[in-house]
Amino acid sequence: MLDRPAHVAPVIDEPYFRRGPAKPALLSVEDAKALDLRSMAELFKEHVNPGQFHFMKLLGFHKVKVERAEGMYYYDQNGRKILDFFGGFGSLAFGHNHPRILDARRRFQDEGRHEIAIAFLSQYAAALAKNLATISPGDLDMVFLGSSGSEAMEAAIKVAERASGRRNCKIVHAENSFHGKTKGVLSITDSTLYQGDFKLVENRCKVPFGDLEALTRAIESDPEIGVVVLETVQGGGGIIEATTDYWRGVRALCDKHKVLWVADEVQCGYGRTGTFFAFERHGVVPDVTALAKSLGGGKAAIGAMIARREVYMKAYGTPKTAMIHAHATFGGIGEACVTAIEALNTLYDEDLIGNSASVGDYLLARLRDIKAKYPDIIKDVRGRGLMVGLEFQDFSRALPFALRPMVAILDDKLKGSLSGFVGALLLRDYDCLVAFTEYNRNVIRLEPPLVCGEDEVDTFCDALDDLLGRGIVGIVKDFIKTQIG
Ligand SMILES: Cc1ncc(COP(=O)(O)O)c(C=O)c1O
Repeated sequence: MLDRPAHVAPVIDEPYFRRGPAKPALLSVEDAKALDLRSMAELFKEHVNPGQFHFMKLLGFHKVKVERAEGMYYYDQNGRKILDFFGGFGSLAFGHNHPRILDARRRFQDEGRHEIAIAFLSQYAAALAKNLATISPGDLDMVFLGSSGSEAMEAAIKVAERASGRRNCKIVHAENSFHGKTKGVLSITDSTLYQGDFKLVENRCKVPFGDLEALTRAIESDPEIGVVVLETVQGGGGIIEATTDYWRGVRALCDKHKVLWVADEVQCGYGRTGTFFAFERHGVVPDVTALAKSLGGGKAAIGAMIARREVYMKAYGTPKTAMIHAHATFGGIGEACVTAIEALNTLYDEDLIGNSASVGDYLLARLRDIKAKYPDIIKDVRGRGLMVGLEFQDFSRALPFALRPMVAILDDKLKGSLSGFVGALLLRDYDCLVAFTEYNRNVIRLEPPLVCGEDEVDTFCDALDDLLGRGIVGIVKDFIKTQIG
């Protein structure tokens, strides 16, 4: 029991101040490694996010303590090998602990290289920026380095807003967009749940994704619009693509009205869809783009905003404006840059982009066969490369009356979602991990590492085929057993 009302913050007592330099009861690295599942759960609930724990428990994910990860697999406390088709929402292009990336990091540490590069120029940040400019088409030449996708996207909307020259620059974004959760980009992340009652950036409006007429109407009716922000492939929306005509239309429309186009490639970029940037296959170049996730080789937290030189120079090109949005403390930190440099070289040396395209085709073909076998369960298979969405039928109507009361007792998050049941059972019974989708509970996202081979696709698809063979009723019953068992 608290001896004060919950809304009153505690006062730090005097003995606390007088404790001086005595070391508090801290856990060591060895303690952390040795935590058992029960203690991990307690600490997570007490100090991290109890609500999230509840969700992990529903899916049975709380029973896995990962001890090691390598390539396409996690290994848990019981030596169980779990095939990773989740891939950290696209953060693990190289799989887990790619030896070449580990080696580069080790060398960097052994040589006693420096990390924070605020006072002096950083050779690592400079080389990484050069590499990104070399890969990026057109004059996408200027690079801002940060530590996450959200930070890269914040930098993207800031540089575009300043370069647009509009006084009350308004941003257009798409329905079902996801651009991050920091307050600026939260304003253009189309989720009432995430936006809640936060005070957001006001000058914004929303159009349907992939609808050129709607975008044209918006831009032509509102001269304040200066920036259009779009994921090239919507990830959180459930792996949604737009046509080449749309993207060419977006480019032409933006040119005509002097509006800047920001392409969010945080999830769909970095080779995931079979080209380095997803926009490349449409033959267009945006004014600003952003990368993160696999940019850090699965080992470092790093994101990058890349702007056309002209755009960047307009925003921050003079000594007077240069510091308006310069790197934050950890932007361009040494080991993250070295990791990203080695990762980019590995991406091309191992032809992982080509692998993404060909193994992606194989995965899509196998999933389409499975869809043909279970048309009552799978509604759609879509995507490109190794960014694939598997949409299930809305099962609530297909469910026999007798089972409906059972489902009704389930948590709200799961009621309408066959993907939750399938994901939980794929892990429990087949040792396969998949990802869920923010805005469409019926979609499972498959974003395995780009090192994935056809053998792993077969393992995954055989597991899915076998599970779906239980039928909707069998799957629902088996899932409910996990909840009451
Ligand atoms: C398209 C897109 N943009 C931005 C972000 C935000 O990236 P981060 O989680 O690294 O901040 C994400 C994250 O999932 C994303 O998918």
